[in-house]
Amino acid sequence: MDKILLCSFLLVSSGSQASRTLTQTNAKFAVDLYQAVSLSHKSNIIFSPLGATMLLGMVHLGARGKAQQQIRQTLKLQETSTGGEFSLLKSFFSAISEKKQEFTFNLASALYLQEGFTVKEQYLHGNEEFFQSATKLVDFQDAKACAETISTWVENKTHGKIKNMFSEDDFGPLTRLVLVNAIYFKGDWKQKFRKEYTQLMNFTNKDGSIVEIPMMKALLRTKYGYFSESSMSYQVLELPYKGDDFSLIIILPAEDVNIEEVEKLITAHQVLKWISEMQEEEVEISLPRFKIEQKLDFKEAFFSLNITEIFSGGCDLSGITDSSEVYVSQVMQKIFFEMNEDGSEAAASTGVQIPVIMSLTQTQFIVNHPFLFIVMNNPTESILFMGRVASPDSPKMKRRDLDSL
Ligand SMILES: *[C@@H]1O[C@H](CO)[C@@H](O)[C@H](O)[C@H]1NC(C)=O
Ligand SMILES: *[C@@H]1O[C@H](CO)[C@@H](O)[C@H](O)[C@H]1NC(C)=O
Ligand SMILES: *[C@@H]1O[C@H](CO)[C@@H](O)[C@H](O)[C@H]1NC(C)=O
Repeated sequence: MDKILLCSFLLVSSGSQASRTLTQTNAKFAVDLYQAVSLSHKSNIIFSPLGATMLLGMVHLGARGKAQQQIRQTLKLQETSTGGEFSLLKSFFSAISEKKQEFTFNLASALYLQEGFTVKEQYLHGNEEFFQSATKLVDFQDAKACAETISTWVENKTHGKIKNMFSEDDFGPLTRLVLVNAIYFKGDWKQKFRKEYTQLMNFTNKDGSIVEIPMMKALLRTKYGYFSESSMSYQVLELPYKGDDFSLIIILPAEDVNIEEVEKLITAHQVLKWISEMQEEEVEISLPRFKIEQKLDFKEAFFSLNITEIFSGGCDLSGITDSSEVYVSQVMQKIFFEMNEDGSEAAASTGVQIPVIMSLTQTQFIVNHPFLFIVMNNPTESILFMGRVASPDSPKMKRRDLDSL
């Protein structure tokens, strides 16, 4: 049954009703997951909704009964669907593999199962084909060796960008099945920032403390919007990456507005509204140079989205293995994301860039306090990353970095 369901992938053309529904569903899942994750993460956040969908897809493929049903409900997969459940991922993979030269995208995705269980042949193939994911056997009893094995594999798959994903404390005698997803993304801006315009500015962290950080500056013609909701106002800006396949969308609350208050208001509908309502404008931009690296276990967040069965003993994962002793122990994701001027190539810029003496007439977008961001994959209209920068402080960002420019 599942073989049939999953074999007939539809590549839904964008603009069609089906694709709009898919986009909304994906955005809703992304926003719901963000809300769930933010409950337990008060500082910086980054995670990949697309990666989380992939992880759930991997379990869904091998789950039956209630375990599968809960995933279908949360991802709003159609009961009567005759294919295309995860077509978004398939379109995404084909879109990125065609455009490899325009950005760096490294993905490591796998299902690790305790040695001694037998993985069904059909699952091995399905997992590889639909999710480009590996299925591997390890001995979780030897936690140290196991952490090393998986971390090394992730490091290798992400070309050294994501290291030490696991430590021996992550596994115990009861660990049976662990889902792993690691993503490194780095794109060049379509319109680059010039390093010589970067200057130190004060940034007010979420906790109210003030740090001096390198702020990239440019005057660019780009999509911009000013929105107001429940008497809270915020600005939204879109910065496309080279090739236009990905865009960074930054949501900046007004200075007197608490970021958590804005977060509570965000819905999928709104995210899509921003995207459709932003207009091209000339904007003076000040944007922190930052990087975030974060490892998350989605278990708790999935629980609050009503995906519980896959974590309990006796759940039906008979599409993966025949044993009834197998359930999901952890759903781990690690993301590395960085943002800089990207002057790694000669700046053949199309933007008008100025050594920024802020004028009063221009629209200004000054990111000197906490903000939210989304990285969209434009062809599939799916959310690759979503996050919050509460304090962009990072050891690399010291004055001497700037002085060495
Ligand atoms: C990853 O592993 C393969 C095969 O073991 C090896 O050929 C390759 O050089 C490794 N790549 C990195 C980046 O370590
Ligand atoms: C940051 O704020 C401190 C204290 O208000 C001030 O002394 C410092 O000059 C400011 N730094 C910058 C780069 O504006
Ligand atoms: C989870 O289930 C509860 C009870 O059925 C429901 O009230 C809640 O809306 C569900 N949450 C989500 C995110 O679907």
